[in-house]
Amino acid sequence: MTLRPFLSADIAAARALWQATPGVGLSTADEPAALESFLNRNPGTSFVAESDGRITGTILVGHDGRRGLIHHLAVAADCRRTGLGRRLVEVGLAALHQAGIDKCHLMVFTDNTGGAAFWTSVGAKRRDELALYSLATTPH
Ligand SMILES: CC(C)(COP(=O)(O)OP(=O)(O)OC[C@H]1O[C@@H](n2cnc3c(N)ncnc32)[C@H](O)[C@@H]1OP(=O)(O)O)[C@@H](O)C(=O)NCCC(=O)NCCS
Repeated sequence: MTLRPFLSADIAAARALWQATPGVGLSTADEPAALESFLNRNPGTSFVAESDGRITGTILVGHDGRRGLIHHLAVAADCRRTGLGRRLVEVGLAALHQAGIDKCHLMVFTDNTGGAAFWTSVGAKRRDELALYSLATTPH
């Protein structure tokens, strides 16, 4: 099993993993062209785990020059609880640090208790004093 940068050639396999993974929310931002754009805008900060040619884990990591944002940390169900999620986070954080970013955020669905336990275990702090708001940019 190797960890390596997430390439555009990995998009189809990553989308298949995410579609099979409860806890990962998909949107138009996960269309192949949008993911390609994300990878081009954030070179070298997203990673996959690969084992015998199979993508077994992903982490999408980007930043806006101020804060990092993590999306789609996912590990295939048959590869969990072996430390792979933790390793993906470690390489993603290292890439952000290298880029000069000292903090990042991530979102977890409130009913995703396993995901929440994972993030707590790697040292993430839940921000109960904040609420997430979203706005579409499309004119209406
Ligand atoms: C969350 C996820 C990425 C964790 O991947 P993983 O490879 O199993 O994680 P690790 O093996 O590195 O786990 C590290 C620690 O996190 C905690 N942890 C991980 N999964 C957990 C779970 N389901 N319940 C409770 N604690 C958990 C444990 O403390 C674990 O250490 P341990 O195995 O020694 O007890 C994986 O379960 C997954 O893909 N879930 C679906 C998608 C998702 O929820 N993503 C995160 C939300 S964005």
